[in-house]
Amino acid sequence: MSAQLRFGVWALVYGNWASFHHPEDPVDASWERNRRQILQAEELGYDSTLLAQHVINPFGEQYDQLDTWTAAAALAALTERIEIIAAIKPYLYHPVVLAKQALQIEEISRGRFGINLVNAWFKPELERAGIGFAEHDERYAYGTEWLRVVRGLLAGERVSFRGEHFHIDDYQLKPASGHRHRPAVYVGGESDPARALAADLADTWFINGQPQQDVRALIDDVASRPREGDPLRYALSAFVIARETGAEAQEVLAYQWELAEQGKRAWDGLVANADPKAVMFHTFAKHPHIGTNGGTAAGLVGSYDAVAERILQFRRLGIGTLMLQFQPFESEQRRFAHEVIPRYRRLEGAG
Ligand SMILES: Cc1cc2nc3c(=O)[nH]c(=O)nc-3n(C[C@H](O)[C@H](O)[C@H](O)COP(=O)(O)O)c2cc1C
Repeated sequence: MSAQLRFGVWALVYGNWASFHHPEDPVDASWERNRRQILQAEELGYDSTLLAQHVINPFGEQYDQLDTWTAAAALAALTERIEIIAAIKPYLYHPVVLAKQALQIEEISRGRFGINLVNAWFKPELERAGIGFAEHDERYAYGTEWLRVVRGLLAGERVSFRGEHFHIDDYQLKPASGHRHRPAVYVGGESDPARALAADLADTWFINGQPQQDVRALIDDVASRPREGDPLRYALSAFVIARETGAEAQEVLAYQWELAEQGKRAWDGLVANADPKAVMFHTFAKHPHIGTNGGTAAGLVGSYDAVAERILQFRRLGIGTLMLQFQPFESEQRRFAHEVIPRYRRLEGAG
């Protein structure tokens, strides 16, 4: 636990990350807004950003959706310091093409790029494209082969691979990373095959926001699985509501629940389109929350001091990166950087 905790923000690929009815947080997934958001995040000192991947917006086809990979390349060119992580669903891209694109963004960003392998839960996106939506564990078998190929290519290796899904014959990509061994590999997913995949092939496992005892149990489980090489690292998603006092934060939370009620139909529609076997939705049902990917279930709601203290507890459990959501996004990412990060750094330094 020596290195400093890293703070990241989710890019606004859906247009926002909580209520689509918030009067001060328009649903705006445009490149222009995402560009401004991430430039502001970099200026505020955030270390990382995650661009989720969907081709069509899972909250409803009437909504815009930012394209992850072209936006990641553009952000890589515009920024100087912040890490850029792009999610990838293996069925959408052949592994040699994806590895090639990732290495190009690695070069554009001068060694700041990472991929987040996610094995899909939103059925219509793949079904209506004619790609088909394979059964849950079959998707993981496909994703595991896919990531083996991609990891080798990202490292500049000459890859030959014969699996059930991919036959690669003596393939090598140039240039490989000129900055490090290869771009970073993250994996997001909670099921048993997701955990095995993370332990086997990821550098960092992304965990959905949930209470600390659950996060501890997840880390214990994954850390006990077979793995070669450097220890696995852990990142946690969370939605933050931080105010001067706990009472003020609770008031904002109550308002977010009122807004969530207005968006209930869109959320129910999203769940109806999700793979019922996707384990993360079972976790979500256990812990009602604001935001996506567990959101406020991580408990980062309270006074600035209380939130900083809870973050330190997650750090002690082994979390190395926090990937955060807010609403309204830009003003809250600023508030968090000004009020919570300095408090957290003081606690980290003292303890
Ligand atoms: C931090 C994080 C980010 C994720 N990003 C995406 C994404 O961009 N697109 C997507 O379809 N799923 C995303 N997922 C969902 C995982 O792919 C999800 O867990 C999976 O679809 C269901 O698999 P499971 O049964 O292993 O949980 C993300 C999950 C986590 C934890």
